[in-house]
Amino acid sequence: MRCEGDGIATALWPILGERVWDVRVVTALSAKKSRAFLLSVPEIDSPRRCPMVVKIYKDEGRAFREAEVLARLGSAGVPVPGVVGATPTVLLRRYVDGRVLRDLHWTPVLAEKLATWLHSCHVALGSAHAQDGTLIRTGLVGDMNLGNFVLDMAQADSRIVCGIDFGDTRPGDPLEDVGEGFMRIFSHRPGYTPARRECAVAFVREYGRLAGAEDRVWPEVERHAVEAFRKVAVWRGDPSMNDMAEAVGKMWRSMFL
Ligand SMILES: Nc1ncnc2c1ncn2[C@@H]1O[C@H](COP(=O)(O)OP(=O)(O)O)[C@@H](O)[C@H]1O
Ligand SMILES: [Mg+2]
Repeated sequence: MRCEGDGIATALWPILGERVWDVRVVTALSAKKSRAFLLSVPEIDSPRRCPMVVKIYKDEGRAFREAEVLARLGSAGVPVPGVVGATPTVLLRRYVDGRVLRDLHWTPVLAEKLATWLHSCHVALGSAHAQDGTLIRTGLVGDMNLGNFVLDMAQADSRIVCGIDFGDTRPGDPLEDVGEGFMRIFSHRPGYTPARRECAVAFVREYGRLAGAEDRVWPEVERHAVEAFRKVAVWRGDPSMNDMAEAVGKMWRSMFL
């Protein structure tokens, strides 16, 4: 399928110019905040083609902001897809070959990989620990949905996690991401099992270890995890998540420490 339909060619024209006519749409991707498509794009002056993902937003400016964050993280060595180009509403990124964490078998090792990625991302966004152990807070990912992370297949021996979605990245407390990550892992279907709990705990523990502040991280993550369950109850219109928020708050010390 060529890309004349869906306004994709028009969207890509400012980024790819004439190359637009050789772009093929491989498939539409399931996206919540944008329209996203997997594309096959010809390289410049080469017969090779390259898989890329285009995200088309309704609101102006969002694609530029996301491209800026990707460029900043990429230049700091944080695993993220390379940016090919952006306009105020369109973002073209390289495709990361792998599976999203939502579709993988979860183990504590996978949870630690996500924590490693998240910590490196926070450091690059400017959040860090001062000498006295206090957190200097500047930036967070803002959406820890497990569909926003890919286990990169290109890294054959030590597959690493790559973050792909920075549409909600904003200034704020990075431990909000850790609390939301805890909620996402613990509630990931089949949720609330001992195996899920083990993964969620491994995630927070590894993040705390990397931040050099495990003792400080736990109580703050509890607060953010409870808040994350409450937010999801509203988004999904699912009051049972409010019950979980209460249960997690009550059981935190005995279950997770
Ligand atoms: N660069 C990429 N590499 C691999 N998969 C991607 C990439 N970008 C997007 N995807 C896939 O498309 C989906 C939607 O992309 P995402 O950036 O999360 O959009 P949204 O902001 O709308 O949530 C992801 O869950 C993932 O499955
Ligand atoms: Mg997403």
